Amino acid sequence: MAKSKTVFFCRNCGHEAAKWIGKCPACGEWNTFAEETIVTGKSGSAQMLLQQGSSQPPVPVQEIEAGKEQRMDMHYAELNRVLGGGLVPGSLILIGGEPGIGKSTLMLQVALSLNRMKVLYVSGEESRQQIRMRADRIGIGNEQCYILTETDTSAIMQHFARLEPDLVVVDSIQTLQTSRVEASAGSITQIRECAAELNKLAKVSNVPVFLIGHITKDGSIAGPKVLEHMVDTVIQFEGDRHYGFRILRAVKNRFGSASELGIFEMHAKGLREVSNPSEVLLSQRDTAVSGVAISAMIEGLRPMLIETQALVSTAAYGTPQRSVTGFDLRRLNMLLAVLEKRAGFRLSAKDVFLNIAGGLRVDDPATDLAVIAAVLSSSGDIPIDDKIAFAAEVGLSGEIRAVNRVEARISEADKLGFNRIFISKFNAKSLDSKAYRIRIESISSVQELAERLFG
Ligand code: TYD
Ligand code: MG
Repeated sequence: MAKSKTVFFCRNCGHEAAKWIGKCPACGEWNTFAEETIVTGKSGSAQMLLQQGSSQPPVPVQEIEAGKEQRMDMHYAELNRVLGGGLVPGSLILIGGEPGIGKSTLMLQVALSLNRMKVLYVSGEESRQQIRMRADRIGIGNEQCYILTETDTSAIMQHFARLEPDLVVVDSIQTLQTSRVEASAGSITQIRECAAELNKLAKVSNVPVFLIGHITKDGSIAGPKVLEHMVDTVIQFEGDRHYGFRILRAVKNRFGSASELGIFEMHAKGLREVSNPSEVLLSQRDTAVSGVAISAMIEGLRPMLIETQALVSTAAYGTPQRSVTGFDLRRLNMLLAVLEKRAGFRLSAKDVFLNIAGGLRVDDPATDLAVIAAVLSSSGDIPIDDKIAFAAEVGLSGEIRAVNRVEARISEADKLGFNRIFISKFNAKSLDSKAYRIRIESISSVQELAERLFG
């Protein structure tokens, strides 16, 4: 007989409690508990079903036959890379991102371009007509892409069994509902249960399943956070909506590196891969302007050159403003304090604006040196040659610190035709500078940078 009970779930991390609590003991968030009714004993939870299925006895690891790892080609090299070299059959992948960032577009586009693969695209968000209109914009390259507008998991399973697709896309997990539990769609119980069912489907049939999940700016909708533990791979789709660039980032990957990243650009006809980000991210300038410095940074595992732009002007009001786009404000404040204290630049009465071109968000510490160079250049109104790149971290005493994978950064700058790159002297020690065409300038302090650049 079905029994129902009331439990409380943290909307942030999915922690379960018998009564309402103000602060979640698991994730420390305040005011995240919501009441949900769960019905147990009806037909057993998916969790129980999963346990029943595992009837094979334990085997010593060396006796397990190592099957050759298979990967499915996803047509888009950027997506393949993020997945760790293609899609693993039977895996469950969660694509998270803010509303409107392009998750549905990306998945439909992938579904429409996979040749000779039968794809079941389940949507609980859009009507068939809406999907057709979007498909027309993107272009239909795969005639075996089946659209199903359905939110009930058991109906989806039936259609799955009849169609026997090679790939399933579900848009989105928040709209799904299973009759196993009595809670409204989008609640944590439903999300968990539906994801468990789809995971079982993927594992039993060996067909990969993509789940789309929404997250809001403040991360208040639970879904994806709870789901992260249940799925094999978590991919984040992010970017500034006002710019065309979108970054696909592996956050968790059981089958590959979690620091991989793919770059796309949103167009009128869907998303386009950006295979050489540096060429797009370096804005085209005819004449050298002050306040611009190029950083040889690494995002994920990829080196790329991006522009940092600074504007330093006399503060119009009493308190100077510091404002950043795509960079950490506290980090900028720290770098400005270093310039003030260690190199004697008077910036405390100046407004400082910093912008990373292309709407990208960077957190690579190696961007520090370019930021400092851009600020100095704008402050003195002296342009920096656009064939100079920077790659080093700046410490609190104004010292220039070594960064990881400096060879990759230098090679990338070299390949793109830069002729000088400033790095830390600690990085330069172990380098074979003859291997590059680019001139390597090793420095040890911010004063030295100022002298070498403008002195
Ligand atoms: P969408 O995939 O619906 O976002 P999500 O599923 O993450 O909520 O796409 C969002 C935006 O993409 C929408 O504002 C319109 C834009 N877009 C284009 O610019 N070009 C296109 O070809 C398509 C299909 C969408
Ligand atoms: Mg969508």
